[in-house]
Amino acid sequence: MAVYKLFVLPGDGIGPEITAEVEKIATWLTREGIVQFEIEKGLVGGAAYDVHGQAISDADMERAEAADAVLLAAVGGPKWDGVPYELRPEAGLLRLRKDLQLFANLRPAICYPALADASSLKRELVDGLDLMIVRELTGGVYFGEPKQIIDLGNGQKRGIDTQVYDTYEIERIGRVAFELARKRRNKVTSSEKRNVMKSGVLWNEVITALHAREYPDVLLEHQLADSLGMQLVRRPKQFDVIVTDNLFGDMLSDVAAMLTGSLGMLPSASLGEKNARSETRKALYEPVHGSAPDIAGKGLANPIAMISSLGMALRYSFNLGEVADRIDRAISGVLEKGLRTADIKGDAQETISTIEMGDAILAELQASLR
Ligand code: IPM
Ligand code: MG
Repeated sequence: MAVYKLFVLPGDGIGPEITAEVEKIATWLTREGIVQFEIEKGLVGGAAYDVHGQAISDADMERAEAADAVLLAAVGGPKWDGVPYELRPEAGLLRLRKDLQLFANLRPAICYPALADASSLKRELVDGLDLMIVRELTGGVYFGEPKQIIDLGNGQKRGIDTQVYDTYEIERIGRVAFELARKRRNKVTSSEKRNVMKSGVLWNEVITALHAREYPDVLLEHQLADSLGMQLVRRPKQFDVIVTDNLFGDMLSDVAAMLTGSLGMLPSASLGEKNARSETRKALYEPVHGSAPDIAGKGLANPIAMISSLGMALRYSFNLGEVADRIDRAISGVLEKGLRTADIKGDAQETISTIEMGDAILAELQASLR
């Protein structure tokens, strides 16, 4: 049986707590001989800064390069507010994305029926919601140069970020979206701000041409990013796959996540280009939510997004869709039993802790084997 090297980065805030729960699941899968994981752990974010003075060390970057998949929990927190910009916790995550060239960020938003009432929208708008945001992750304003604050010498300063996209970057993320759509409901909505941004004009042209050339069988729609944000809260079930740039994808995926009841539910996959020979690709899996420093260490965090991030790794890196399905079923089973962490409480009177949620999901998985 193949052994998969999993490089685990718990990071900051609630990161270590939710990591402990996903490790339970990974260890159990290994013990049962269902998947063979070899787990190594490293430091990222503020945790890495405190030890190495860097948001991720070169040694841990090498481990990430060598792994079959990286599993990261969350970075950041007020403790590091005063840290120089280049060394801030988020820089560790951005370096991983950039250096491993993880250009395709897949952020599914699925509303478990048992949670439809936890959403801030009416049940009928979100019940059965299943959409996928494909966010470009290594370009755009996150990485464009110049990126600086300059002193204008007259008591004024100027802050500059650069939004920049080349044809190949738009094409490769477009392909990921069209390919995914073919396996889903065959519809792609591409989003930019071509009414005010040149990069948006190019984005629109390139996606339109790619569609005509290679994916005419897929339904393609274009929506301006502001209007898409509005449609997401108005009628979210109209969407199947949404493809957009780094910054719009960041914002829209938080909106989409909240439709499902809680940010604590959603996993994500960040993928690199497929290696033509080995058919493998670099990949990092992480929850969409952040490090939630306000509830860190209190046993309140929801480990579901982290656990389904492992599910995504099984699906996209290890071709073990059935095991991923079993994890997803265990999560819905637990939710159907009415078990809730505080973030998805809704009208439930009682909530359970991070550890109890992890244990409940593991027990459900174990029961599914019997
Ligand atoms: C996300 C996060 C990150 C981002 C932060 C932590 C740098 O919000 O993954 O969505 O902006 O990409
Ligand atoms: Mg974000």
